Amino acid sequence: AAKALTPPDIAARKGKMPLVCLTAYTTPIAKLVDDHCDVVLVGDSVGMVLHGLPSTVGVTLEMMIMHGKAVRRGLEKAVMVVDMPFGSYEEGPEQAFRNAARLMAETGCSAIKLEGGESIAGTIRFLAMRGVPVIGHVGLTPQAVNAFGGYRVQGRDEDAEHILRDAVTVSEAGAFAVVLEKIPETLARQITQEVAIPTIGIGASPACDGQILVVDDILGLFGTFRPKFVKRYAELAGTAEAAIATYANEVRERRFPAVEHVFGDVPRPVNGGEA
Ligand code: KIV
Ligand code: NA
Repeated sequence: AAKALTPPDIAARKGKMPLVCLTAYTTPIAKLVDDHCDVVLVGDSVGMVLHGLPSTVGVTLEMMIMHGKAVRRGLEKAVMVVDMPFGSYEEGPEQAFRNAARLMAETGCSAIKLEGGESIAGTIRFLAMRGVPVIGHVGLTPQAVNAFGGYRVQGRDEDAEHILRDAVTVSEAGAFAVVLEKIPETLARQITQEVAIPTIGIGASPACDGQILVVDDILGLFGTFRPKFVKRYAELAGTAEAAIATYANEVRERRFPAVEHVFGDVPRPVNGGEA
């Protein structure tokens, strides 16, 4: 088996080979992505992607633990990171540590990710000094969707300065990498030059030290969600729909199950009368 990567290995990749990162929420997808990725994130996007929630605000620690356990069973090589869900870390460093420790102990992940910049830097420092490797997440932070009033690109004007400061603060607080979400190329480039840790972009241009996307998005596993920053490398929803339709037809026409799917002797079709 390949040597398991660690958070320090990821930090050491700054300015070298781009970091390849994807989400996973289940064991079979974790097995598929492990060979090809440096970091696998059990994102709180699981709430929207697999559970049909309207945003990530309703995701619970229990959901993250359940999906984290499933992903752990599928990984050998990639660094496993679990998102801290909304409400599990914002009260302060002690609450954050208690819940991060639960995530690490119960799922076997080697790092956690949390959203926020300057406002959460003290918590990142508290965790990092106590054996919890942290990835930061600045720019568009989806857990704040209600405060933002939507999922618009961040840092297009005066708030660019603020996002730069967020990223620098997160880095100085001891995070080993930082996700930059939905910001312009110029800002992503500036942040990547100014922070000491790898930047991992999602909708943040190739100027970042690595990229992350939701695996279901690149596989085209569902129909309608098509943001500009996602490239679809497959159209699995269409393939799946066609297979389901064929199954339904074959059952209705009594063409499935066929002889090769049946136990025992089947001298002639058991259903269908006249055959
Ligand atoms: O929840 C998520 O999937 C994320 C990403 C950065 C893709 O936070
Ligand atoms: Na997330």
